[in-house]
Amino acid sequence: MNLRNSIVCSLLAAAATVGAQNNMVLNTKKTGAAIQPTMYGLFFEDINYAADGGLYAEMVKNRSFEFPQSLMGWEAFGGVEVRTDEAPFERNPHYVRLTDPGHAHKRTGLQNEGFFGMSVVQGKTYDFSVWARAVAADSKIRVEIVDPASGGESQVLASQDITVSGTWTRHEAQLSPRRTCTRAKLRIFLASSQAVDLEHVSLFPADTWKGRKGGLRADLVQALADIKPGVFRFPGGCIVEGTDLESRYDWKKSVGPVENRPLNENRWHYTFPHRFYPDYYQSYGLGFYEFFLLSEEIGAEPLPVLSCGLACQFQNKDPKAHVPVDQLEPYIQDALDLIEFANGSEQTEWGRLRAEMGHPAPFGLKLIGIGNEQWGSEYPERLEPFVKAIRAKYPDIKIVGTSGPDSEGKQFDYLWPEMRRLKADLVDEHFYRPEAWFLAQGARYDAYDRKGPKVFAGEYACHGKGKKWNHFHASLLEAAFMTGLERNADVVHMATYAPLFAHVDGWQWRPDMIWFDNTRSVRTASYYVQQLYAHNKGTNVAQLTMNGKAVCGADGQNGLFASAVWDADSRAYIVKIANTSDTPQPVSVSLQGRKLTFGKVTRTTLHSDNPDLDNTLDAPFVVVPVTTDVEMTGSTLTDTIGAQTFALYRISL
Ligand code: AHR
Repeated sequence: MNLRNSIVCSLLAAAATVGAQNNMVLNTKKTGAAIQPTMYGLFFEDINYAADGGLYAEMVKNRSFEFPQSLMGWEAFGGVEVRTDEAPFERNPHYVRLTDPGHAHKRTGLQNEGFFGMSVVQGKTYDFSVWARAVAADSKIRVEIVDPASGGESQVLASQDITVSGTWTRHEAQLSPRRTCTRAKLRIFLASSQAVDLEHVSLFPADTWKGRKGGLRADLVQALADIKPGVFRFPGGCIVEGTDLESRYDWKKSVGPVENRPLNENRWHYTFPHRFYPDYYQSYGLGFYEFFLLSEEIGAEPLPVLSCGLACQFQNKDPKAHVPVDQLEPYIQDALDLIEFANGSEQTEWGRLRAEMGHPAPFGLKLIGIGNEQWGSEYPERLEPFVKAIRAKYPDIKIVGTSGPDSEGKQFDYLWPEMRRLKADLVDEHFYRPEAWFLAQGARYDAYDRKGPKVFAGEYACHGKGKKWNHFHASLLEAAFMTGLERNADVVHMATYAPLFAHVDGWQWRPDMIWFDNTRSVRTASYYVQQLYAHNKGTNVAQLTMNGKAVCGADGQNGLFASAVWDADSRAYIVKIANTSDTPQPVSVSLQGRKLTFGKVTRTTLHSDNPDLDNTLDAPFVVVPVTTDVEMTGSTLTDTIGAQTFALYRISL
């Protein structure tokens, strides 16, 4: 190649690596629609061991011996018998009797494997408790945390004796392991010749969230709090519906003393035969009281979702699987009682229970969801009587209906007008979709009807085609799509990514926002996208255009998606731009309308040189937001946004 050709090639290469100038205008004259405090939130479902084995810090699996195989999770040795004749807790009838093994050198007892093992840390304290009674004379048990795989002299990491006498009593012991072990077990020996009965065997770390006894995992709650979520939807998802009505999430079983909350089957244990978890149940230890409290403590509006009387429609084609419309009364009563549980005075039946559980003040519930991903005429005909009853008794409560499992199509098109007819306040839309869908949906809400119900984008995540796992590129497309939510905040009032949590040893569904094992947790790139939006949601939409049009990844917009907000609290404009193209994009944002004096300007970017990467437990900070100061010339911000980069500019006045 001669010199001239080589120069031409270099110039062409340079032109190909930087895009053409993209000039945007931010209109500062007009303050746009108010952005709801609920705009960016969280959706919690007990999938991927998010509750038992996850957020709920209980370390003992099958603590009440109620799994269909009573000793699942336990290894029994010596004289162990499962009984139901004189149980202390009506709704959990099984307990175990430990009897003398019949020889001074033999032993009786049990050990529990925990959820994928028990993780204990040297120097930390673990709160053991058990309901026990001596069968005849006083007896003794020895409780130990052990490392069964230890090659050392002793497997015992911590040990305590507990004396047990006549009647059913709750006993406690504090255990402090002498070394750290990620696959420990809890072992209980009968340490006397006298028989003893045991029920509700429990082990929690002492340092739970807010140090609450029997509480939640501190690192996981902290991750939620750090988002500053506006809304918290719970308890699902499909678990609201159940595989059958019997296994639906029944909130009334999830409140009151934990010892008497019955076991529920978790539908995710068998939903996917290729990821099968036969030991996945719900203890309901993380129940509706705990969900309300958690919402309050992380500053989010609680959004409970209840069964509308339809079992999962994916799994039940037989109409008899569902509650007939004329027999919905108990389900409707459940909804009314839930509102009373959350908001009623201590004089009411359910308000009293809330107070007895430790929260005399109402939780201030404002929202309720009826049904999850329902479809067909079966849904509106069931929703209608709920709406009537809730409106009649609690006219201020906002009702969230659903547009089904699909982001568009026949059911979606049928359900939206039905939701309008029934005057649902919000409609829950779900979209787990591939890259092409996200790239094409930047303008999704621009033409939505402004008069009808508002939108709750209740479950969404980019599921890469053939790459259905966490990686940066998927998160970038979520960030791009969210500019459209933000631009349309007059009609989109809430949005929650899904699912929230996944245990690395027990997941059924991915990608997910936060991964964890028994010790550690990691925030994914999608987490940081959500956090950047939630921390920078602003108070009002600001109009941002390029050549007079919304910046929504349309043809000729060089893969750019953008939105802007005004934040009256911090007196700043915040501009979010996702560059989904493979080339850096020179961008200018000219603030036009009012004469303004600008202060500090910062740019926060989220990017990974390898778009297939994400943070992992072993490398948790590979893709994290990076903030730097940037200069502004007059009232125009100019910058070049790297290829495949999400950039957020905060322009303070
Ligand atoms: O988030 C996982 C599942 O996806 C939810 O349970 C359900 O609502 C949706 O199908």
